[in-house]
Amino acid sequence: MNLAVVILAAGEGTRMKSLLPKVLHKICGKPIISYVLKTVRELNPTKTIVVVGHQSDMVTKSLGEKVEVVVQENQLGTGHAVLAAEQSLNEHEGDILVLSGDSPLIRTRTLLKLIKLRGETGAAAVLTAKLKNPDGYGRIIRRGEEIIGIVEEKDATPDEIKIDEVNSGTYCFAGGELFGSLREATNDNEQGEYYLTDVIGILRSKGKKIVGILAEDESEILGINSRKQQAEADKIMRGRITDRLMDGGVTFIDPGLVFIEPDVVVGKDTIVYPLTFLEGETLIGEGCEIGPSAKLVDTTVGKNVKIQNSIIRESVIEDEANLGPFCSLRKGTRIGRGVKIGTFVEVKKSEIGANAKVPHLSYMGDAVVGENVNIGAGSITCNYDGVKKHKTVIEDDVFIGSDTMLVAPLRIHKGAMTGAGSTIAHDVPAGSLAIERSKQETIENYVKKKLKRSDESKDN
Ligand code: UD1
Ligand code: CA
Repeated sequence: MNLAVVILAAGEGTRMKSLLPKVLHKICGKPIISYVLKTVRELNPTKTIVVVGHQSDMVTKSLGEKVEVVVQENQLGTGHAVLAAEQSLNEHEGDILVLSGDSPLIRTRTLLKLIKLRGETGAAAVLTAKLKNPDGYGRIIRRGEEIIGIVEEKDATPDEIKIDEVNSGTYCFAGGELFGSLREATNDNEQGEYYLTDVIGILRSKGKKIVGILAEDESEILGINSRKQQAEADKIMRGRITDRLMDGGVTFIDPGLVFIEPDVVVGKDTIVYPLTFLEGETLIGEGCEIGPSAKLVDTTVGKNVKIQNSIIRESVIEDEANLGPFCSLRKGTRIGRGVKIGTFVEVKKSEIGANAKVPHLSYMGDAVVGENVNIGAGSITCNYDGVKKHKTVIEDDVFIGSDTMLVAPLRIHKGAMTGAGSTIAHDVPAGSLAIERSKQETIENYVKKKLKRSDESKDN
C-alpha cells in the first residue's frame, strides 16, 4: 500500500482556553496527538506529514523522528493546512489519508476500511458518524450512497442543521484528486477560512464519486475542541483500556473508578480496587491485589503482591510483597520477595532484602537492607548531613530495635541487634548488640507527693 498520511495540528484550539497547544493536552496521561500517531504507525504509511503552526516548536518536539513536519505559518483553515503539505507530496501517487490531530479515538481498523472503500469506489471516502447531538460538526449531504457535500454548522441552513450524520474530519483521497480541487476552495464562508470540507463539493462538481462510511461506534470520531470534550475522550479511552485488561483476565471492582494509562500491563487474576492510578511504563504481574487508592508510576510489580493506599514511583517490587496501607516508595527502590512494608513507611533509593519487615513509621533512605531483617517501629536512617547523602547497610538477619536512629554512613553486620531508642553512629559487628541509652532515673512516690503539693496550694 502506497499511502501518505497528513495530520492537521496547526490550530491553536481557542476553545480550550489554554496556553498549551490543543494537540498537546493529554488524555490518559499522553498527548492527544500521540494517539493519532500511534494509530497511523500501524498503517505502515510510506510518509507521515504533520502540519504544525501555532506554537510549532513545542508541537514538533513532541512528535518524534519518524514524521515529516511542515509549517502552516498562518492558520487560515483546514484546507489551507493541507495545502501546506502539497510540496512534500508532489511525487506521491498513492492514496492520501487526512486526519485531525485533535481526534485521538479513531481506530486503525476503521482507517483500513476507509482506505479500502476509497480504492473500490471513487475519488474520495469520508469517515462519518450518526450522532444524537451533532452540534459543532460539519454535516454530511448525501444523495443515495454518494456524498455530495459537507457543510459546516456555521454555514448550514436550518434544514441542513437537522442532519445527524457528521463529518469526522478523516478522509482518504486518491492521490491525484486532492490538491487541484483544494486550490479552488475559497474562504467565502461564515468563518472566512479555507475549508478542507469544500473539496468534497468541488470534486462532486467535477463528476467525481465520493462515498462515506460510518465509524464502528460514534465515540471513535470525537474531536477535542473543549475541556469538556477532553474529559469525554479521556473517559472513553479509559474504558477501552480497562476493557482490554478485563479481556486479558484482570478484575476491576469498578472499571469506571480506575485510571490506567495505555502502556500499562497487568497480569491475569490481578484484582484492581477503586481509586487506583497505574501510570507510565508500569508492569504488574499475575495474582496481585492493587488498591484501593494506590498510585504506581513507572513501577514493575511481580506476582501475588498486595498494595494498599500507597504511592510508588520508579521502583521494583518482587513477588509476594505486601505494601501499605500508606507507604511511599520513591525512585530507585527495590523491594525483595515476601517483604512487608507497613503503615507510614517511606523508602527512597533503597534495597530491601527478601522477607525483611519494615512494618511501622520508618524511613529508609539510601539503604541496603538484607534478608530477614526486622526494622522496629519508628526507626529511620539519618542519611543526610545537610550537604551529602550517605549510605546505610544493614546485613542479613539484623534486628533493629524500635526508634533506632541509624546515622549514616553506617554498617550493621550480619545478625546484630540494636536496642530500642538508640542512636547508632558507629558500625556494629556481627552478632553483637549495640545500645545507646542514658541511665533511667526513677523517683519513687513522686506522683503522690506532687498531688499533695498541688492540693496545699489550692487551700491557700
Ligand atoms: C473540522 C471540520 C468539520 C468536522 C470536524 C471534526 C473543517 C472546515 N471542518 O471542524 O467538518 O466535523 O473537524 O472534528 O474542516 N487546523 C490546522 N490549520 C488550520 C485550522 C485547523 O492545522 O488553519 C487543524 C487543527 O489543529 C485541528 C484540525 O485541523 O487539529 C481541525 O480543526 P478544527 O478547528 O478543530 O476544526 P473543526 O471546527 O473541529
Ligand atoms: Ca476539531
